[in-house]
Amino acid sequence: MTRPYIIQDPYFKKAKELWYRARSAFKLLEIQDKYKILQPRMKVLDVGAAPGSFLQVIAKIVGSSWMVVGIDIQKIDPNFGFPNIHLLQESVFEYDAIRAYIKTLGVEQFDCITSDIATSTTGITGVDQYKSIELNLAILDVAREFLRPGWTVILKVFVGEDILDLIHPIKAQYKKLSRMKPKSCRDRSFEEYFICQWKM
Ligand SMILES: C[S@@+](CC[C@H](N)C(=O)[O-])C[C@H]1O[C@@H](n2cnc3c(N)ncnc32)[C@H](O)[C@@H]1O
Repeated sequence: MTRPYIIQDPYFKKAKELWYRARSAFKLLEIQDKYKILQPRMKVLDVGAAPGSFLQVIAKIVGSSWMVVGIDIQKIDPNFGFPNIHLLQESVFEYDAIRAYIKTLGVEQFDCITSDIATSTTGITGVDQYKSIELNLAILDVAREFLRPGWTVILKVFVGEDILDLIHPIKAQYKKLSRMKPKSCRDRSFEEYFICQWKM
């Protein structure tokens, strides 16, 4: 029997205590604890960033004078208390708008791209999983132009039977794919994080 879905779980409470905007912060912190991908003085792009807890974690690690960019289809409250967070309200599928915005910031490439992207679920598992693949393929397109060669993309993926449609393009472009399900992911979720390290 699966456990009932509890919204106010310990991570939710801890997020409130630590002023994180969402419990997702702990997923990125666990990934960071294991892979040590984020480093001070990195430029980082976070896609699917609202309400902004990944951005809070990232901004703290990279330091207040290093650029952090958050993109989401939803509006993100800009009051982070970090001067280095830049925000774009846009869909990841609007590639030209994303490119134009990044150019206005004067950034050529990012040292890391993170994503926790997810759309509202339909309840039809296969449909939700395929939507996740499409979103992540769009992020790989952005990464092809804006990730500094040799560096890392972190993707959140709803894993299902079509997952090879995402794994194949990742393996064509990246040297190493590591998969992780942080403890802070809900038990019943199909979500995993893919850590993709670039092929040189
Ligand atoms: C789980 S939330 C991200 C939580 C965030 N990482 C945090 O720590 O606060 C997933 C986000 O993906 C965004 N999203 C879904 N479809 C998108 C799209 N086509 N383009 C950009 N963002 C999208 C949603 O609006 C939502 O805010």
